[in-house]
Amino acid sequence: MCGITGYTGRSVALPFIMQGLEKLEYRGYDSAGVTLVDKSDLFTCKVSGRLDNLKAKLDEEAHQQTCGIGHTRWATHGVPSQLNSHPHTNSSGTISLVHNGIIENYLSLKQELLNKGYVFQSETDTEIIVHLLDDVYYHETGDMLQALLKVVNRLKGSFALCIVSKEFPDQIYVAKKESPMILGKNETGTFCASDAPALLAYGDQILPLKDKEVAILSPDDIRVFNFKGEEMKQEWIAAPYNIQAAQKGGYDSFMLKEIHEQPRAIRETLRGRIINDEIEINELNELDLDWKKTERIYFVACGTAYHAGISAAKELEKLTDVPVYAIPASEFRYGDPYLNGRCLCIFISQSGETADTIAAIKLAKQKQASTVGVVNVLGSSLTRLSDVCLYTCAGPEISVASTKAYTTQIVLLSCLIIKIAEKINGYKPDIQLIIDFKELPELVEKVLKHESQVKELSGLFKDKKDAYFIGRQHDYPVALEGSLKLKEVSYVHADAYYAGELKHGPIALIEDGTIVIALATQEKVAAKTISNIQETLARGSKVILITTESIEVDGFEYVIRLKEISRCLMPVQIIVLLQLLAYYVAVIKGCDIDKPRNLAKSVTVE
Ligand code: M6R
Repeated sequence: MCGITGYTGRSVALPFIMQGLEKLEYRGYDSAGVTLVDKSDLFTCKVSGRLDNLKAKLDEEAHQQTCGIGHTRWATHGVPSQLNSHPHTNSSGTISLVHNGIIENYLSLKQELLNKGYVFQSETDTEIIVHLLDDVYYHETGDMLQALLKVVNRLKGSFALCIVSKEFPDQIYVAKKESPMILGKNETGTFCASDAPALLAYGDQILPLKDKEVAILSPDDIRVFNFKGEEMKQEWIAAPYNIQAAQKGGYDSFMLKEIHEQPRAIRETLRGRIINDEIEINELNELDLDWKKTERIYFVACGTAYHAGISAAKELEKLTDVPVYAIPASEFRYGDPYLNGRCLCIFISQSGETADTIAAIKLAKQKQASTVGVVNVLGSSLTRLSDVCLYTCAGPEISVASTKAYTTQIVLLSCLIIKIAEKINGYKPDIQLIIDFKELPELVEKVLKHESQVKELSGLFKDKKDAYFIGRQHDYPVALEGSLKLKEVSYVHADAYYAGELKHGPIALIEDGTIVIALATQEKVAAKTISNIQETLARGSKVILITTESIEVDGFEYVIRLKEISRCLMPVQIIVLLQLLAYYVAVIKGCDIDKPRNLAKSVTVE
């Protein structure tokens, strides 16, 4: 989704702004722009398309300004175009701003400004902010902090704002509500960005702005205020990861690098979680929940994190009598879920900034439910909102297609559900599960050895536009995730079905050469799934079968066998194969794997 960078100090601003926008490219965008501040003028340059187009338009040598802001836009209101791209400037060209998020009441504010004679250049919701600021600053307050406070208090929706003006040529004003904004400083100046990777090369301490805060960045100083104008204490934290960790490290893409990082990510996530063969999640003791009276448990998330939630919910419902649900955050928030102080809600998110997930946790808190966040990014909004937060230690996930975040979520959620069951009914896991947890990183290394075999199988997709993933019981959520990976990066249309559901409709789509990826790793239902696979083979499908070493299958052309391990951890092994498959199919199709079309890494708008 959109990216923001800003710098003010004694160094030239443009290199910081551009490197930061490049670091945020992975988030997805369709246009880009910068404003650089001179004492006498603001210089703004905007383009449609990639950052390379912006670079081509800018003569870096000529731009020695030491204060400026930059933006990459992912279109929400108005088509991707030069006019709609940010920064947006007031009519007299004295104030310029960039914005991430969505202003929900922009139409009424726009009408108010039109009535006052303001003229609009773009179709965006953002442009109203700069005109509103112009109106309040020049006609009411004459003071930018007071003007900004008045403006942010009138905006409904989500925003991270970054503002420069020739009225205060070495200052940047920022504001945050529900969209991330991170500040930094070093000996040359102060800076800001919408996500940490943009700041990493410049300092190892960061200041994540809290919700409903504004800040003034000057070359030597940062001041933070709440929306009431009260100055706030600053809580600086160590940057969540270092610059090397956010680079490709010799791989062709971040996605491939991150697939290969999974053994280490899992090891890190498990660090301190298994002590003397016992699972430890002491954070749960901090919850104000009468466990034995728990009425409902919800797993709430979006996309890949939601798929991890379905797997966890399926496991947990087997361990207690408490009703357990996995619900996409976008449905949860509008579905009037049954919630009260005896409900436990677990919110899963890599970024910790996904707008629907954030709205969902706010709803749960409002209804007094206990909340647990399962989050990868330190200091993100979800970490601050949840009653207790458990970190997946996947490291920076740059690829839009989530890989190591998913496997670490499965691992951490597997620990979590066991502890929840223990608290509710004294459940104790089998020692085999502890052994499997410990061996999992090595097992994933073994699965990665199938890479060349999977690469070869990807050749089956050369002229294909569709694929179907099938599985029963606990294989099904993994089928969903496999199909999401394939469509995200290769644009091959992919659907996932319960294997037994095929003959109730979807089988009509199977014809000669249709690809079916079948998951049969569940001993109890494997034979049934095999029968469903036979039904597709009889109609000409080409089947890639993923099963275990012990399940009996015969006569399949393309089979990969995995070690049978505890059911809750099986998705980790399976998905590594499916991630590799999606990756190599995307290579064959010539797709831009780290920047899939229309997608954003962190979906900070509803
Ligand atoms: O940052 P989050 O985990 O909250 O993101 C949720 C989804 O937007 C994300 O998983 C998305 O589905 C990925 N592109 C999947 O690869």
